[in-house]
Amino acid sequence: MKYRKEIERRRTFAIISHPDAGKTTLTEKLLLFGGAIQVAGAVKSNKIKKHATSDFMEIERQRGISVATSVMCFAYKDILINLLDTPGHKDFAEDTFRTLTAVDSVVLVIDSVNGVEEQTRRLMEVCRMRDTPVIVFINKMDRDGKNRFDLLDELEKELSISLHPMTWPINSGTDFKGVYNLHEKNLVLFQANTKSTDENSLAIGDLSDAIVDQKLGEANAATLREDVDLIDGVYGQLDVEEYLAAEVAPVFFGSAINNFGVREMLDTFIKIAPQPASRETTNGTVDVEDDKMSGFVFKIHANLDPRHRDRIAFFRVCSGKFERNKYFHHVRLNKDVRFSNPYSFLAREKNIVEDAYAGDVVGLFDTGNFKIGDTLTEGEDFYFTGIPSFSPEIFKEVVNKDPMKTKQLEKGLMQLTDEGVAQLFTQYGGNKKIIGCVGELQFEVIQYRLLQEYGASVTFNALPFYKACWIQAQDKKKLEEFARFKQANIGEDKDGHLVYLAQSEWFLNTEITNNPDIAFHFTSEIHK
Ligand code: G4P
Repeated sequence: MKYRKEIERRRTFAIISHPDAGKTTLTEKLLLFGGAIQVAGAVKSNKIKKHATSDFMEIERQRGISVATSVMCFAYKDILINLLDTPGHKDFAEDTFRTLTAVDSVVLVIDSVNGVEEQTRRLMEVCRMRDTPVIVFINKMDRDGKNRFDLLDELEKELSISLHPMTWPINSGTDFKGVYNLHEKNLVLFQANTKSTDENSLAIGDLSDAIVDQKLGEANAATLREDVDLIDGVYGQLDVEEYLAAEVAPVFFGSAINNFGVREMLDTFIKIAPQPASRETTNGTVDVEDDKMSGFVFKIHANLDPRHRDRIAFFRVCSGKFERNKYFHHVRLNKDVRFSNPYSFLAREKNIVEDAYAGDVVGLFDTGNFKIGDTLTEGEDFYFTGIPSFSPEIFKEVVNKDPMKTKQLEKGLMQLTDEGVAQLFTQYGGNKKIIGCVGELQFEVIQYRLLQEYGASVTFNALPFYKACWIQAQDKKKLEEFARFKQANIGEDKDGHLVYLAQSEWFLNTEITNNPDIAFHFTSEIHK
């Protein structure tokens, strides 16, 4: 209970979107409001542009940017906001999914012209899996977008979530006049490229006021009145509990590049977004107000300088108080560790941090002791649940081109996969190393980094698998029998758990049907 005040002040969230919807631009505007940056243009996009797939310098540059912008911490109206960055490129989707395990809510950015896109769907699936509360920001209203009612319909259907408009746009594109704030009952007039200040907002008690016609023109004013009548009738007041239960997503319309509609969203965000909550572990729930420190590693980043092998582990505090130089219990290694230079990301600069509380993210220098999902406590043995590895989608065998460097290769593979760049499996009963990734780009990154950082030269042989399922059985003999029988399709993950590598959905379904005593799982979660 000692730290309640600190917990109440914190909001930890991520902005997610399909690439190009405006995540970077929106992030920048939020940082401007938070005073974390002074000028526009200071946040560089960390997306890997399409043409850069084989440009390794570009990958390195992006890695640099993504370390700097992995966590952005700023204060707004006395609320401490931790904004966690997620890579937009679909080949790094797993990294994004894991980052989502460390946040308490998300803001989903939708491009008003394109509506729901491929990545939007996948990201929302993860949010739904975890019941993460979502606020939607419909961006680029300064462009001729879809009809706003159609867009809401599309979002509700495609994302399987009920929406609740908080602001309502008056036209779009060159005719975009601004938004009406349905809850504050004020009109915010659009001006391109300005900071939206209170001068642009017009408080109106009654929409029938003639000033609305004056400001918007009669036709627009009439449409707005009709729309608002309709919306009020359908939606009523936002039920914050429904938002917190991830059943309803409040929606804002705006234009990030013009810094329009952003403040309205941020003001609502700090009012309704959830503060850090209690979390589930293998040992029951850890109360967020527990005085004892606990937390987990959700991301690991290698040092950019290949001569130094140290890495940065991103650690989310879940309860208690994290302190510099204090010993904490590393559950997996069963040893006590302390950190003399943990850092925070306040104002996007790396500062040594003396203490941190639930919701905060701390950067820990790591010389190879951490992997994703590792837990630190004050002595208890448990893991936080809900940080699974998902099944990869592309599988390749690693071919060592330089037998003199076998040791380096093994070390490199272990370390890179600890970082979560990819998953490593070893052929059952053999030595073949199999790498599983979500996207092709990751293989290029691995090949490049193995050579640059470990001096190991590899190529890959494509394997005909499409999914990995973790398998389990009550009867260990049955499991072994199955593994022996299906040897060509069996691998072991890094923790020695058996995985069935399926060639196709048909094969997978056949094995599931033929082996009722064996459970097939699509994530590694079962082993926690
Ligand atoms: P991302 O991080 O989600 O990938 O998107 P990002 O913010 O980089 O924005 C993608 C493109 O959309 C950028 O243009 C950006 O300027 C533009 N954009 C963002 N918000 C708005 C908006 O409200 N209205 C309009 N019309 N455009 C917007 P770009 O040409 O790809 O990059 P840049 O050269 O402008 O940096």
